[in-house]
This record gives sequence, structure tokens and C-alpha cells, in this order.
Amino acid sequence: MPKSETEFICQSCGWAHPRWVGQCSQCGEWNSLVEEQIEQTTGVSMASSKPAKSMSLPEVEALSRSFSRFSTGFDELDRVLGSTSAEKGVVQGSVILLAGEPGIGKSTFLTQIGLNMQLSTKKTQKEPVVAYLCGEENPEQILLRIKRLSKSEHKSWEFFTSQQIEPSLSALTKMKPAFVIADSIQSFRSGTLTGAAGSVGQVRMVTDKLTEWAKKNNIPVFIVGHVTKGGGIAGPKVLEHIVDVVLEISGERTTDLRLVRAHKNRFGATDEVGVFQMTEVGMEEVLNPSAMLVQSSTAGIPGSVLAGILEGSRPLLIELQALVVRSQLAMPRRVGRGVALSRIQVLAAVLEKHCGLRSSEHDIFLSVAGGLVVREPAIDLGCAVAIASSLANKSVPREIAFVGEVGLLGEVRSVAFGESRIKGLKRLGVSKVISHQTHNTVVAVLKELKLIS
Ligand code: TYD
Ligand code: MG
Repeated sequence: MPKSETEFICQSCGWAHPRWVGQCSQCGEWNSLVEEQIEQTTGVSMASSKPAKSMSLPEVEALSRSFSRFSTGFDELDRVLGSTSAEKGVVQGSVILLAGEPGIGKSTFLTQIGLNMQLSTKKTQKEPVVAYLCGEENPEQILLRIKRLSKSEHKSWEFFTSQQIEPSLSALTKMKPAFVIADSIQSFRSGTLTGAAGSVGQVRMVTDKLTEWAKKNNIPVFIVGHVTKGGGIAGPKVLEHIVDVVLEISGERTTDLRLVRAHKNRFGATDEVGVFQMTEVGMEEVLNPSAMLVQSSTAGIPGSVLAGILEGSRPLLIELQALVVRSQLAMPRRVGRGVALSRIQVLAAVLEKHCGLRSSEHDIFLSVAGGLVVREPAIDLGCAVAIASSLANKSVPREIAFVGEVGLLGEVRSVAFGESRIKGLKRLGVSKVISHQTHNTVVAVLKELKLIS
């Protein structure tokens, strides 16, 4: 009888060690190793192995034509999943990991996709079956959500409550549902391993099993994964390598804006972003995000400035708000929401050195309205103007939007895709865009706006 072998898997990076050590030699994490059984594989000797079969290009072509896609019912999501306008939506047999913080709306979103799918095919044929592997919630809770999200009758939902994945998968093979939701990957386990559900080995094994099943049956599987406080997908990075698509829902739980991005996509580009709003009837597509992010009520208030960013390939108009007040502290505060703190510090220094605007005795609060987090340097110029506007207590006209990175010498620098960004902003109703094309320095911009003399 073969000896059952074990190895020690790091729960933070997934690296396998032959024996237990206190610190993972790969990622340096302490006390993260857990003993797990190695799956027995039968060795095939070189001599007995048959020659591998290859495929010619026309054969591959014929196979790729059979790749069919179906719509999720959300145009915003189909665009994120697809590569071109003709090829949008979920590829049959693909495995999609939907990651996001707890409470952000993953289960809600997937339930809606299931409902949409049933609606779109219902009239022509039998209602397609949506299989829900419930690891976190019980079927009653999911039913309540389905009822809340849809007024019409839906009968074809099947719920599996087994924590072990193998029995559910063999039942699914017989059932042939239209698509499968596994919510969440951290709550299932495979019988081939001894570790508890949620451990790296189990997460990897369950994902492997689901992927294998999806490919064999040509049925798409959505897997829910939580995101840790650090921003990584809970469990190992290895999960991201196994699946075809990694989608992330982000947004602040306190606001209703939700962005859906593809971090990895074997069937399309990863630069598209879907914009949604969480409402009382679930996630709703936001067709004109700029209108949601920019409120007309703040026009004319000093410190409010419009800036143009790119989300995916789409230009967005956002509102930057700065509040600069005399500080009571020896070390004045710089607080950013949606903007990196280091950028505020750099911009305050640039304004002082090159524009003569002293803010060393002022607190600076800067935020992106609407709860968006912007990492692009293209908002630098808008941020600098917002700070100057609040400091001078003079408003900036609403018909102007700002695009540009600000250098340490006070120069306005060009940004990626500047041309298409500016064109896109004009289509959004901005009559003037101030960028490196119109001004070379921040001083020149502030002078024109009469924020400094
Ligand atoms: P949920 O999908 O359960 O989050 P996750 O699966 O990512 O943990 O939804 C979380 C929040 O969404 C919850 O606080 C309630 C809210 N919600 C709505 O605002 N509208 C709705 O229609 C539903 C179903 C939920
Ligand atoms: Mg959930």
C-alpha cells in the first residue's frame, strides 16, 4: 500500500514545503504552514507513453468557432467580459471568479445574472436551470433574494447545500444546468484532501474540480471569492491562475457606486470597466456615469473642479473637491479620499514653490466625489486647481475640465491617450479642456483662472 504523503502548504502564498518550518521560505509569512495530503498520481513510464496527438490550425479554427457566448443581461458586464462589440458576454464552459469585499454585492449580482438569463430564453424554450451551490447562505435566504430581485415566477433554480464538492458535481453532470454559481469558493471542500474548507489546498482543489467540470460539460461556472483587507483575493494567488476570468467588484460600501473590472481575461481585453449602482432592486447599470459623479448643486462653490479620467477605454468626468482651511495644529493635516496622500503633499509643495501659494499653515482635505478611487496622475492638474481655488476662495467655471499630470517643476505634462480623452470629455458636454495642449505650467493655468495674480 502506498504511504500517504503530506506536504506543508503556506496559507498565504500557496508554496509547498516538504517539512514544517516556522516561516514560509517563499513569501516570508510566519506560522502560515498547514499540513495537507498530496494527491496520489500514478506515474507513467516514458517507454509506455503513446505519442501525443496534435491539432492542425484548421482544426483549432473549427473548434474556436464553436465557442459560443451568452449575454449576462447586463451590457456593462458583457462589455467587460468580451473583447469586441461582436464578441460580448460569457463564453460557454468558462470559469469566472468574481472577487470583492464581503457585502459589496457579489451574491446579488450573480443572482441577477441567473434571473436575466432565464428571462432572455424563457419565451422560446424551457426555462434554463440555474444551479446554486450554497456554501454561505441557505436556500431560503437565496430564495428571499430572488423574490426581492424579480417579480416574475422563476421555478428553475436548483440549490445544493453539500459542503463537499464531488457529490454536487456528479449531480450537476446529470442535471446539465445552463450555468452554475459557487458561492463562495472558501466554503467548499474536496474529499480528496483532509484540510478544512477555506485552506489553500482545498480552495485550489475545489477550483480545479469546478474548472475540470466546466470544460468537460461546456457549461460556465461563476465562482465567488472574498477579498482580504490587504486587497488580495483571500486564499492563494494560484486561484487566479486556474480560472479563465477574474472579475472584481469594487466600491465603497457606504456609497452605491460599484465598478466591475476584469483583472484577467482569457477571452478578451482587461481594460474595460462596468459601472453599476447598488439599488434596492439590486445592481443597476449606469449608462452615463459622469452624470452620476458630477452634481450640479456644487457648481460655483470654491474648491469644486471637474477633471477627466479614463476608466477602461471610456473617458469619465469626475468632480474633485478641496477644502483648505487654517490649521489649529503645528503639523497641518493633509487628508485624501479617493486620491493618494502623497499626491496631495507633492501638489501642495509645487503650489508653494512655483505658484507662491503658501499652504503650510493650512489643513488640506481633498476628495473625489461619489466614492471613486483614482490612481491616475491625470487628475493632478485638477487637484492643484481645486486646492488653489479653495485657498483663494474663488470658484472655477463649470464648463472647464482639467486633464494633466503635474511635474515637480510645476509643468503640466501630457497623459496617456490625451487626445481621445479630450475628445471624449467634449462629448460629455464640457466646452473647454485645460491640459498640456493649452498651458505649459500650473502658474499659467492659475493666472488664467485668476486664482493668483
Ligand atoms: P451581497 O450580494 O450579499 O454581498 P456579498 O455577496 O458580496 O457579500 O449584498 C450585500 C449588500 O447589498 C447587502 O448589504 C444588502 C445590499 N442589497 C441591496 O442594496 N439591494 C438589493 O437588492 C440586495 C439584494 C442587496
Ligand atoms: Mg455573498
